[in-house]
Amino acid sequence: MKAVQIKPNIYWVGAIDWSMRTFHGYSTGRGSSYNAYLIIDDKVTLIDTVKAPFYEEMLARISSVIDPAKIDVIVSNHVEPDHSGSLALLCHHAATHATVVTSNPQGLKGLTARYGNLNYQPVKSGEEISIGKRTLKFVATPMLHWPDSMVTYCPEEKILFSNDAFGQHLAANKRFDDENDLHVIMEEARKYYANILMLYGKQAQGALKALSSLDIEMIAVGHGIIWRKHILDILAAYEKWSEGEVDDTKAVVAFDTMWGSTEKLAREITDAFTERGIKVSYFDLRCDHISDVVTAVLTSKYVAIGSPTINNQMMPPVAALLCYLKGFKPTGRKAIAFGSYGWGGQSVKLVEDELKAAGFEIAADMIRVANVPTQADLDDVREKIKAM
Ligand code: FEO
Repeated sequence: MKAVQIKPNIYWVGAIDWSMRTFHGYSTGRGSSYNAYLIIDDKVTLIDTVKAPFYEEMLARISSVIDPAKIDVIVSNHVEPDHSGSLALLCHHAATHATVVTSNPQGLKGLTARYGNLNYQPVKSGEEISIGKRTLKFVATPMLHWPDSMVTYCPEEKILFSNDAFGQHLAANKRFDDENDLHVIMEEARKYYANILMLYGKQAQGALKALSSLDIEMIAVGHGIIWRKHILDILAAYEKWSEGEVDDTKAVVAFDTMWGSTEKLAREITDAFTERGIKVSYFDLRCDHISDVVTAVLTSKYVAIGSPTINNQMMPPVAALLCYLKGFKPTGRKAIAFGSYGWGGQSVKLVEDELKAAGFEIAADMIRVANVPTQADLDDVREKIKAM
């Protein structure tokens, strides 16, 4: 459990969570990391901590560089316990004289509620502190990812300690973007943005504007891989995602099925999109996770959601997807509802209503088929996808 030097006298001292497979409902197949950073200066400074079960791992990494009792300042960029979970343990047992820098008022309020009275130093956006040869400047980034969130910039090192922003849930042995597969990092950054930040596009735009004047050579994220070679790539991606830019050559088809009829419609819809030159991300909700659907929705212009009717309702996995999607308000996309039924057949209208409530434009009449789709039904599917 050694620290990793990321610049002279600056170390990664976080923890790697190889086994994490869910983060409040978002599936994290590649695990994650909780990144904390140690700066050795006149005032020894720790930027963020780690999730509580990983306290000993962080402590061991800090101890490989310096006695944790020598920590003077702990910057808590964000109250959520994946970053602050070891703060009280550290302050009570190891870094007992440390000052805790937190955003004012939300960080102070959140940390006090969770950990009681520590030696807090609340800071406003734009405030700076000197830790010796280096300065730390704090910039509020509310809703990236909670109201308290801020980032810390060190101008002498040109490092942005960005906490949740620009991160990825990705466990890896190597810490930098040029030491890992860029395709995997970007895929996980996209999934992270979609599932954590999609609702906060306006706030992300505000943060990008606030950070645009900074000279950044390294983005030391709170999760996953540190950016040093592909900084412009991740900033450009955040610009695009936060503007809600979608690709009109991409569609998402997601469904559940009982006896294969709704699945047949999903396959026909997929073929119809494909014939029109539109690439389809296909999700069978019996085996695919809703957070992967949301990731595909982030960049897709077209969305088709299908469910058979069960007990006058849609299938629960489809309801879960629509409930989750509605939270992100994914406007600027065209949608269609589809499904089969034996009798009753309420599900398709319920799906359409939820799509509307989520902010989708209903771009074609719903596809609603009794029992098993006939050739005429499948021809109708093609016409409706064409109409979209
Ligand atoms: Fe990584 Fe909002 O916590």
